[in-house]
Amino acid sequence: MKRARPAAARRAGARLASGPIGEGQKVDDRKRAEDALRESEAHWREVFEHNPVMYFMVDDKGVVISVNAFGAAQLGYEVSELVGKPVLGVFLDEDRPFVLRNMAVCLENPGQPHNWEVRKIRKNGTVLWVRENAKAVKRANGFLVLVACEDITERRRTEDALRQSEMYLAEAQRLSRTGSFGWRAAKGELVWSAETFRIFECDPTLKPSVELALERTHPDDRNFLRQFLKGVAREDKDWEVDHRLLMPDGRVKDVRAVAHAVRDDEGGLEFIGAVMDVTDLRKAAQELHNARAELAHVTRVTALGELSAAIAHEVNQPIAAIVTDARAALNWLAHEPPELEEVRQALYRIGKQGSRAADVIGRIRDLVKKAPMSKVAVDINEAVREVLALTRGEISSSGATLRMSLAEDLPLVQADRVQLQQVLLNLIVNALQAMAGEVQGPDEPPEPRELRITTAHAEPSGVRVSVQDSGPGLPPSLMDRIFAPFYSTKPGGLGMGLSICRSIIEAHDGRLWATAGEHRGAVFHFVVPAAPWSQSS
Ligand SMILES: Nc1ncnc2c1ncn2[C@@H]1O[C@H](COP(=O)(O)OP(=O)(O)O)[C@@H](O)[C@H]1O
Ligand SMILES: [Mg+2]
Repeated sequence: MKRARPAAARRAGARLASGPIGEGQKVDDRKRAEDALRESEAHWREVFEHNPVMYFMVDDKGVVISVNAFGAAQLGYEVSELVGKPVLGVFLDEDRPFVLRNMAVCLENPGQPHNWEVRKIRKNGTVLWVRENAKAVKRANGFLVLVACEDITERRRTEDALRQSEMYLAEAQRLSRTGSFGWRAAKGELVWSAETFRIFECDPTLKPSVELALERTHPDDRNFLRQFLKGVAREDKDWEVDHRLLMPDGRVKDVRAVAHAVRDDEGGLEFIGAVMDVTDLRKAAQELHNARAELAHVTRVTALGELSAAIAHEVNQPIAAIVTDARAALNWLAHEPPELEEVRQALYRIGKQGSRAADVIGRIRDLVKKAPMSKVAVDINEAVREVLALTRGEISSSGATLRMSLAEDLPLVQADRVQLQQVLLNLIVNALQAMAGEVQGPDEPPEPRELRITTAHAEPSGVRVSVQDSGPGLPPSLMDRIFAPFYSTKPGGLGMGLSICRSIIEAHDGRLWATAGEHRGAVFHFVVPAAPWSQSS
């Protein structure tokens, strides 16, 4: 417009061009300045339009006066679709009061920059997060708010994901009752997760420290834990420790801590670890153990019950002998003169029979007694003989011959004698039941029933006991299944015998398995290791 100056004005300008600086010179300068301005304006417009920042100019009524091309494009609009429209149109309904409040703050403090984070909504309905930097400036006809905003959707997404994953982690820690910690042993720096504070039941505003952890530790475990931590703090090694906590109200918790050794940024030793509240787990394991012991007891009593007739016989026999000898002694005493030597012999026999009956009753009482597992040095042959003393009657009344082959010089085993005897008892009862169940054809000569009990050295150092019968045997497919709990082929069978036998033997670090007999029948073997201080010579 300025360039198209009317000819009259040009002429007037020429008339004035008589001073030290010519009119032509002035026009040139002005033109240069104008060109420079135009150029700079174009340059800035370029920046303004295409800078990857959304620029909005909004009046004090909230109407868009201008927006850059990039900004409009980011929101999926043409510039013309936004200019002259309320700026609130690009915000979510629920965010509008927030935006209005922020604009008001800007207008109340002109010249001062303000910034905030808010969501914007595109023409197509999708949402993006932006950080808005805004400032109100005064213009002749009121105030304008200049807004520059950058897209922070990606950052917000990362932050959200981080927040989410932190939330999940906290939740997982709560559910699994596993807290975490970081320990820079050398500097004595300790950090606890929220769940760790919960496990220790400490005020989360406290600064965690080894001392704080020790304070909560059960007094009986405190010294041990202090020494333990002192030890591990020096070594670049992973560790694991179990201890108890004592709460102020007297509750005791079992915890397990595991830690992994790493190097921190400065190369110092740091442990990253987890603390688990294993109180319930420990309790459940104890209950399981108790239930097992209970069941073992029940099956032992059941097995004894199955033998009760034979056991009664075992007790009645010496008592009958005592009665006979007592009568005889009375007779010898009635002689004139009394046959004192005969009386002495009768009384001696009475004494022996009496202790025999007492032995049987004592053994039964041991087997029926409910006692916690206690391992002592056990002579296997002795244990076998004791069980046979109780079962001999049953064996012979089942029509089976007992063959015993007990190796000499066997090492002692460290075992719970009653439990090992229970295993033998179960195996013998099973063998007798298997043989009793065998139906023999009318034409076949009756097969002799035989129960064979063998003890032997087991390599490298241990004792093997085998119980072999002449029953129907076991198909190979069943060799393992019979050890499963509740597997039974007997009417009314509980099916717990072999399962309990196996857990007893495994609790002794041994092994129990079945094989087929050479000709017929089944053989059950178990091996238990020799007591460490009793290797056979
Ligand atoms: N000596 C054996 N000969 C053949 N089968 C046996 C023998 N011992 C055990 N079994 C089989 O194993 C099953 C499981 O035995 P067990 O666990 O003692 O339970 P239960 O005696 O109550 O049936 C028996 O029912 C039987 O089928
Ligand atoms: Mg059984």
